[in-house]
Amino acid sequence: MRKGALSTACAVAGIIALAGCGSSSSGGGSGSSGGSSGGGSSAAAGGSTGGSTATGGGSTAASGGSIDGKGAKVGFILPDRQSSNRWISSDPQALKARCKADNLNCDIQNANNSAQQMTTIATTMMNNGVKVLGLVNLDSASAAQIEKTAKSKGIYTIDYDRLTLGGSASLYVSFDNTKVGELQGKTLTQCSQVKGKSAVKYVDLNGAPTDNNATLFKQGYDSVLKKQKGWTKLADQSVPDWDNQKAGIIFTSMLQKNPDMNAVMVANDGMAGSVVTALKKQGLAGKVAVSGQDATVEGLQRIMDGTQCFTIYKPSKLEAFPAVDAAAQLATGQVPKTTQKIKDTQTGRMVPSILATPIAITKANVARPINDGYTPKSTTCTGAYAAKCTAAGVK
Ligand code: GAL
Repeated sequence: MRKGALSTACAVAGIIALAGCGSSSSGGGSGSSGGSSGGGSSAAAGGSTGGSTATGGGSTAASGGSIDGKGAKVGFILPDRQSSNRWISSDPQALKARCKADNLNCDIQNANNSAQQMTTIATTMMNNGVKVLGLVNLDSASAAQIEKTAKSKGIYTIDYDRLTLGGSASLYVSFDNTKVGELQGKTLTQCSQVKGKSAVKYVDLNGAPTDNNATLFKQGYDSVLKKQKGWTKLADQSVPDWDNQKAGIIFTSMLQKNPDMNAVMVANDGMAGSVVTALKKQGLAGKVAVSGQDATVEGLQRIMDGTQCFTIYKPSKLEAFPAVDAAAQLATGQVPKTTQKIKDTQTGRMVPSILATPIAITKANVARPINDGYTPKSTTCTGAYAAKCTAAGVK
């Protein structure tokens, strides 16, 4: 009963574009067992020919128009709180804002780096009557199981940011992660420490082996760097859970063995922080080219300092908005508009996908993620960074 009242109120509110029905983690489940209506499962996933058109109601972030989700309940589960700031701030914020605009009753939670916790949260959300569940998996196997359960209950799932191999999500919304890797590789070759050098020694420090994105990033940067004339790879290691501390230990040992390295192809800003700390101890910070990803506070500060060469900026809105729009469409019986199909390498399934384009950030455009409101100015431009931010064009 409560659910019905809420849906009606929100549906009405949606028409006149009132705020308040969306919002995050209200948790107020009604105990309904969740949408058998609309047929769930593979209807939308079904994917016949490339990218079906949405029936009515505009589509994704590109068009800017919101979609009326008619107050439906939707759950999003983010992976952890330590690998990247995005999972605590930018992604939940963007998801929440779009849920509000799309008149969805969203519950946005974080699994705290525990696949078991993700399963527990997902079960609770399903019992609370979500019609659509968005997941950033911690590993493919556990998420595939959640998706299987959801499907059996007629609940749609969305792979958010990370593709679940062997999964059954209706669609996958992310950045083009191979492109992210290629951009990392290309930008690394342009760093002042290595540009124009005839011989460059470098190491790879990759993300979590359980994260399909880490695999794609690596494919991307390796494809660029292995073609780079005079570049030699000295070491190559993955870091479990994108754990910054483990990254520090692994890199310190790489550096001990290879003190003459010129570049570090490290997959994200968090781990780049550990790399720069280790380089600093040897008096090498700023002398070795260091990559990154995620446009974090510390990453941008290091770019301003010159100890990190660049980061990759992935505006959350470009991911969160289409994902929430797709949830609104799925929840109301529409087929989300997708732009391409990405192969699940485990099953060969072609997963309907929406992929955004990443942006490289160097000293030259370091102000951009801050001016966009993605990386908070209040925490980035403090102390000595206030003047550096101003000089860099932060408004
Ligand atoms: C990836 C994600 C990156 C980064 C990393 C560490 O899957 O695409 O943006 O956040 O996880 O959490």
